[in-house]
Order: sequence, then structure tokens, then C-alpha cells
Amino acid sequence: MISVKHLNKTFTTGGAPMHALSDVSLDIADGAFVIITGRSGAGKSTLLYHMGLLDTPTSGEVEIDGIRADAMSEKERTDFRLRRLGYVFQSYALLPELTALENVIVPLLMEGRAFEESRAMAYDALSRMDLEGKEENLPAQLSGGQQQRVAIARAIANNPSILFADEPTANLDSETAARVMKAFRELHDAGQTILMVTHELDLAPDASRIITLSDGKVVSDERKK
Ligand SMILES: Nc1ncnc2c1ncn2[C@@H]1O[C@H](COP(=O)(O)OP(=O)(O)O)[C@@H](O)[C@H]1O
Ligand SMILES: [Mg+2]
Repeated sequence: MISVKHLNKTFTTGGAPMHALSDVSLDIADGAFVIITGRSGAGKSTLLYHMGLLDTPTSGEVEIDGIRADAMSEKERTDFRLRRLGYVFQSYALLPELTALENVIVPLLMEGRAFEESRAMAYDALSRMDLEGKEENLPAQLSGGQQQRVAIARAIANNPSILFADEPTANLDSETAARVMKAFRELHDAGQTILMVTHELDLAPDASRIITLSDGKVVSDERKK
């Protein structure tokens, strides 16, 4: 469902060119729970952003669900991201003036869904993240782990074909991080395709595949089941 072929990304901001990705080729199957790991600066976020259509390569191809990213216009890409892909980042990126429920509703409305449908989908997504009763709370009234689960609810509310997460537990204490990982595991068990960047391999024993990057290259690719 995601196919990456000979992907190269070189950043040339001042100084010497930085080869963030060097000839990366990968296929990610439907339903996989893929962990991307490696040291800081290895190219993990860069790879995730290319697979999630948030960045464009210097050369090479990304294909998702049979559609080549470079064949899409900017508008088609934006639309594809909104309708088919979900994202969770390290810094929850919730809107502070909006309640948990409203934070989840906003992208559904942006997709063009009716308010009542959006509201029902947002309630459902929050309950899948065990956040019943927290719908009317502002982000500041929630713990870090609860805020991250609101961000996950927002990302999964429209049942995206792929969920992308970049170090989603990096800001959380270990107990809270374990709870957030459990939420990802439950999504995986329900069939969600997940691509996650993390250092915390001990928290992700149920990943189906672990890809390790070093200096922009895949140095290990371990399939677990
Ligand atoms: N927008 C950018 N401009 C310049 N260099 C960048 C940019 N994004 C990433 N890089 C560089 O590319 C390399 C890989 O970065 P990144 O993918 O963020 O690594 P990781 O997520 O594994 O820590 C690093 O050397 C980083 O400094
Ligand atoms: Mg990163």
C-alpha cells in the first residue's frame, strides 16, 4: 500500500549538502505496524514525512494506495492527506482554545462533512481512546497522555488508511507512554496500518516490523510476524 523507490532527499540550506535520505526503497503492507528507529539525525522524520506526503523528494518515488505522489497536484495532495492519512506528532498540536471534542471535529468539518456526522465521529474516536467524559475539557485541563490520546483520536476519527506518528511518546513519562502505546496497539489489532518513529523499542514489542535507519540509509529491516 505504500511503496518507496530509490528515495533521495538532500537538504542544501547553507554549507555542505545534507543527504538526509540515500536511496531508500521499501514496501509497507496493509495492516502493518511499522516502527522506524535509529539515532537522532538518522533521517527518520524525513522518511516518515515523505511517506506521509508532507515533503517532496529530491529524487525517487512514493506511491500510496496505487497513486504516485508526484502525479498529484498540490491541491490533490492536500486533499489526499486530509481524507486518507492521519498524523500524530510529538507535540500534540491541539488548539488550546478548543475543547477535546472540538479539536477532533475541526478536521472532519474541513473535509466537508456535516456537523452532526462530524460530532458523532468525534465522540466515537474519543471513546476509542478511553476519553469518555473528557469531551468538554480544554487541552490545559488534560494530562499529557490524555492530550496525546486526543491527538490520536483526531488523527483516526475518519478511519485513515494509514496513521503516521513521529515520536508520539517522547514528551511523556514511561507510564503514560505505555498507555499511549497500548492505544496504538489496539488500533493495530483493529487493522489500522501504522508507521511510527520511536526510540522506545521496549514499549513497542507488538510492532510487526522494525526498520532501522542510519545516515539516511536502511541498515536493518526486521519483520516480526
Ligand atoms: N528542513 C531541513 N533543512 C535542513 N536540514 C534538515 C531539514 N530537515 C532535516 N534535516 C537534516 O536531515 C538529517 C535527518 O533529519 P531527520 O529526518 O529530522 O532525523 P531524525 O528524525 O532521525 O532525527 C539531519 O541531519 C537534519 O539536520
Ligand atoms: Mg525526527
